[in-house]
Amino acid sequence: MLKKTIKFKELGDDQGWLVSLEAERNIPFPVRRVYYIYGTRAGVRRGRHAHRKLRQVLVCITGTCTILLDDGRSREDVHLTGNTEGLILEPMIWHEMFDFSPGCVLMVLADDWYDEGDYIRDYQTFKDLCR
Ligand code: TYD
Repeated sequence: MLKKTIKFKELGDDQGWLVSLEAERNIPFPVRRVYYIYGTRAGVRRGRHAHRKLRQVLVCITGTCTILLDDGRSREDVHLTGNTEGLILEPMIWHEMFDFSPGCVLMVLADDWYDEGDYIRDYQTFKDLCR
């Protein structure tokens, strides 16, 4: 099973709901970067890479999407359907995001700054490095 998730506590009252994300508490690493993916056009597959060292947590803030996880041996589709769940994305997992609902916002917390050198963007190179 490649799917590893974190269930976030919902803090609510008669005004509505709130989820709090805290580095090294309910997010299992020090957070150096947050980015979000939105406005994805129908039929598009995003991601299509693995990271050498980066650790990330993906949260579907609004809407739904599907994440393909691949560790070089097996593959698994994970449906992200709520903003109270975070998907942990470990290093050396090839991932693709697709089936974005209209208006979907996927937020990503990462343990390091953007570094193109950390990306493996070629699937065969990824497979070779997994051996
Ligand atoms: P990319 O990794 O191709 O995202 P996706 O597959 O989801 O479309 O990134 C798109 C562009 O944004 C690419 O030129 C790299 C750049 N980028 C940054 O500059 N900083 C970041 O934190 C991220 C995630 C991407």
